[in-house]
Amino acid sequence: MTTKTPDPPKDAVARARAWWHDAVVYQVYLRSFKDGDSDGIGDLAGLAEGLPSIAALGCDAIWLSPCYASPQRDHGYDIADYRRIDPAYGANEDFDRLVARAHRLGLKVLMDMVANHCSIDHAWFQQALRSAPGSPERARFIFRDGQGADGAVPPNNWESVFGGPAWTRITEADGQPGQWYYHAFDAGQPDFNWRNPDVADEFDDVLRFWFDKGVDGFRIDVAHGHFKSTGMDDLVGNGHNYGMWDQPEVHGLYRRWRALGDSYPKPKYFVGEIWLPDTGSLGRYLRSDELNQAFDFGLLIQLWDSSRMRSAIDAGMAASGDALPAWTLANHDVHRATTRYGQEQSLEAPSPTDMIAAARRLGPVDLPLGLRRAKAAAGLVLALPGTVYLYQGEELGLPEVFDLPDQSRQDPIWVRSNGSELGRDGCRVPLPWRDDGPTFGFNEGGAQTWLPQPTWFGQFSRATEERDPESALSVYRFLLAARRALFGDDRDLCWLNAPAQMLAFTRGHGLCVVNFNDEPVPLDDGWPLGDLVTTTSNGERAGVIPANCTSWFRIRHTS
Ligand code: BGC
Repeated sequence: MTTKTPDPPKDAVARARAWWHDAVVYQVYLRSFKDGDSDGIGDLAGLAEGLPSIAALGCDAIWLSPCYASPQRDHGYDIADYRRIDPAYGANEDFDRLVARAHRLGLKVLMDMVANHCSIDHAWFQQALRSAPGSPERARFIFRDGQGADGAVPPNNWESVFGGPAWTRITEADGQPGQWYYHAFDAGQPDFNWRNPDVADEFDDVLRFWFDKGVDGFRIDVAHGHFKSTGMDDLVGNGHNYGMWDQPEVHGLYRRWRALGDSYPKPKYFVGEIWLPDTGSLGRYLRSDELNQAFDFGLLIQLWDSSRMRSAIDAGMAASGDALPAWTLANHDVHRATTRYGQEQSLEAPSPTDMIAAARRLGPVDLPLGLRRAKAAAGLVLALPGTVYLYQGEELGLPEVFDLPDQSRQDPIWVRSNGSELGRDGCRVPLPWRDDGPTFGFNEGGAQTWLPQPTWFGQFSRATEERDPESALSVYRFLLAARRALFGDDRDLCWLNAPAQMLAFTRGHGLCVVNFNDEPVPLDDGWPLGDLVTTTSNGERAGVIPANCTSWFRIRHTS
């Protein structure tokens, strides 16, 4: 007996198959990818050197975390100049060459559009600081008078995602304490006022600037955040702050951007980072004239449990409809998959409204177990219909680096929480390319990396893993190589009945079986098992699927 995934939402309009529908997109966190000029910080020259390895892995595109001019208080998610590459990463001409090189290798290039907020160093914000309350310059941001007789109380009780109040008070030009500005994140990241037409016009121009250079699309940072409720009333209770997120006006913005992207001969692509309490609401962002896709974080926040994973898959498929989900198991904001799956799994899954919840879990880690499960999870996600986003280093099975010295930590979450939250530095440590040398091949000059690499990093280097047929890298290679031929672009998956803590489904010509148990489990005679194509863990015995393992088979057709 089989069960089908739920039907797509009724308002979904059938769309032709686009390049991204079944693509694998490699997320490049530039400052930690590869360091071409040996100053300890990754850059475009390093990325250019490493691009062939991304193409060889079998990826179709790269998503480049923000590389615009920035004071780097939130490592590029605080942009000072939207039309200029940060000098630490190279020049605009280096970027042009990189796009051309990526295209020659068959890789599309996506950039990161951080338009909810900018940096306090942005020229507009500096002008706003110099201008009077109520001026047009202030109206591009969200400035308010404080409460209380001397205005010393923030305008409302909203809290920053990074901890502490979402408001910072400025000193006016006359030296007196003045108005407050709103920042959903760090105080260095003032939110734009998207109700001001200047802002929308400016970003149309920024999008065109990069599209005209050949960029193929954008990942939209906090895409549910651009508009705030008009009243910005106090949040009552401790729940999700609806006033900060998911306001109806945001859809007009995506219609505008989609029309702009579609006006190019090869339409441009937008994928949104959207954290909502209910995945079902994603569909509103994916109407045929809005975003092309949205990240599905349902799998990322799940524990290693078959029924939770299956529910997340069904919910993601139903919510995305014809857009298909943009799945991901990790990114630069959460603890790495190997670590998460090596931790206690019986706890509550993190909340989908807490964007960094998956970066808060602590506790003992069984690394070999976590690595085995991370490889199996890759086998699961790469068998699903839709796009897969692969965060750099996940293909190496890198664990989270918990043992960073306090003085080296840089994440504003760490800074704003006075060290009570570790934050996200541990998934951003510069990549190991070789098993030897002072920076494991991250750079050739040996300059200290911007976050220190642990001594054990060499075990997970690309060179080490290339020599090992059972490494995460080898597993990813096999999976990526087999994926299209086996599953094709079939948009449906058919669940098969499976024993406890197992998932089995068919799609296209393939049959995917995942064993979440810590013991091997016999394969079910009732499944249409053809030849074994690839498996994420060794120990395959005829008729058995190893513990914490995913295996792909060809479907056996009976005549
Ligand atoms: C990005 C984070 C960033 C935040 C503020 C996020 O969702 O992924 O890395 O800190 O937006 O821009």
